[in-house]
Amino acid sequence: MILITGGAGFIGANFVLDWLAGRDEAVLNLDKLTYAGNMETLASLRDDPRHIFVKGDIGDSALVAGLLARHQPRAIVNFAAESHVDRSIHGPEDFIETNIVGTFRLLEAVRAYWNGLEGEARAVFRFLHVSTDEVYGSLAPTEAAFTETHRYEPNSPYSASKAASDHLVRAYHHTYGLPVLTTNCSNNYGPYHFPEKLIPLMIVNALAGKPLPVYGDGMQVRDWLYVKDHCCAIRRVLEAGQPGEVYNVGGWNEKPNIAIVNIVCDLLDELRPKNDGGSYKTQITYVKDRPGHDRRYAIDASKIQRELGWKPAETFETGIRKTVQWYLANPDWVAHVQSGAYRDWVQTQYATS
Ligand code: NAD
Ligand code: TYD
Repeated sequence: MILITGGAGFIGANFVLDWLAGRDEAVLNLDKLTYAGNMETLASLRDDPRHIFVKGDIGDSALVAGLLARHQPRAIVNFAAESHVDRSIHGPEDFIETNIVGTFRLLEAVRAYWNGLEGEARAVFRFLHVSTDEVYGSLAPTEAAFTETHRYEPNSPYSASKAASDHLVRAYHHTYGLPVLTTNCSNNYGPYHFPEKLIPLMIVNALAGKPLPVYGDGMQVRDWLYVKDHCCAIRRVLEAGQPGEVYNVGGWNEKPNIAIVNIVCDLLDELRPKNDGGSYKTQITYVKDRPGHDRRYAIDASKIQRELGWKPAETFETGIRKTVQWYLANPDWVAHVQSGAYRDWVQTQYATS
């Protein structure tokens, strides 16, 4: 089996669902169920013996050591993190605790476990750390996209904490020989995305008749990747990546935020026209900029394409249409997130161990 941390979050849950849709190898899912963890996303796996869910913290050394000893995973994919830049600006402490201290404790437990493995089990074992392009800092408008050797220049508490975790992962390879893999991915979008992030927030606010808050001038550029393409890249790196290597993952799809918001409005105008015949664009509201806001991220994903044969399957046009359609087709998921009812799901619907 494989151990997934943070598998009730946006990308982790998509990863678990896609993994079990494609193969029978079991998943041990360790997630603390912070506000970002949503077991309702995993409802279809409630009675599936291939999915073992454990509510717990990657920083709980005794818990992690016990799980590793009992389940003997052949690989670990570390998604668990505090992930929202705006929250990191308001309160960085949880980011330091989970992204840095938690990753360190997880690495220590994994090192002890791996040291105890022998023969084939030791040779094939992998620890894959899921990271972000934000560790590289901000690009000037015409600067070349981030390659794997771009220097680290994190600007937010979130990206600084992810950068620190990347460095620890790297050090555990160089110092202890732990067979690690690191992926640095651009902005994801798709189903089950918590509506505090740009794209789902715009969809749910538009439908609710609320303002669509665009920070600053809306000309900050992000490189958007459909979440299922990211999950596919992670599976590929796990399968064929070279231990100690870093792989940048991106969508070759740079767009300013205001263009994203306009595209979302156009799709909603088409798929769920407003009663008054107007456009959702009338709800766009420019608001005060995020402090220290990075102007541009862009990923050069040629290494993973060249060495591992991965490239995105979705274009932005196909991926964003699927995403908007998913939110329109799943109003209950959205309503439960907004009301907070999703937090009761684990007590009422799901057996934990
Ligand atoms: P998310 O916030 O939606 O999910 C994070 C999950 O981790 C939640 O289920 C949460 O309960 C869990 N968690 C938090 N602290 C934990 C702890 N101490 N122990 C165990 N579980 C804990 O985040 P996401 O968007 O799914 O991102 C997953 C990973 O991918 C993160 O490491 C993030 O840095 C990285 N990443 C995200 C993006 C993006 O666009 N969302 C892009 C590149 C990389
Ligand atoms: P976000 O989804 O928070 O991802 P990140 O900050 O990790 O890139 O934000 C994406 C971009 O959208 C970022 O430039 C900030 C901007 N943004 C807004 O303009 N308005 C919003 O309400 C949010 C949440 C983000």
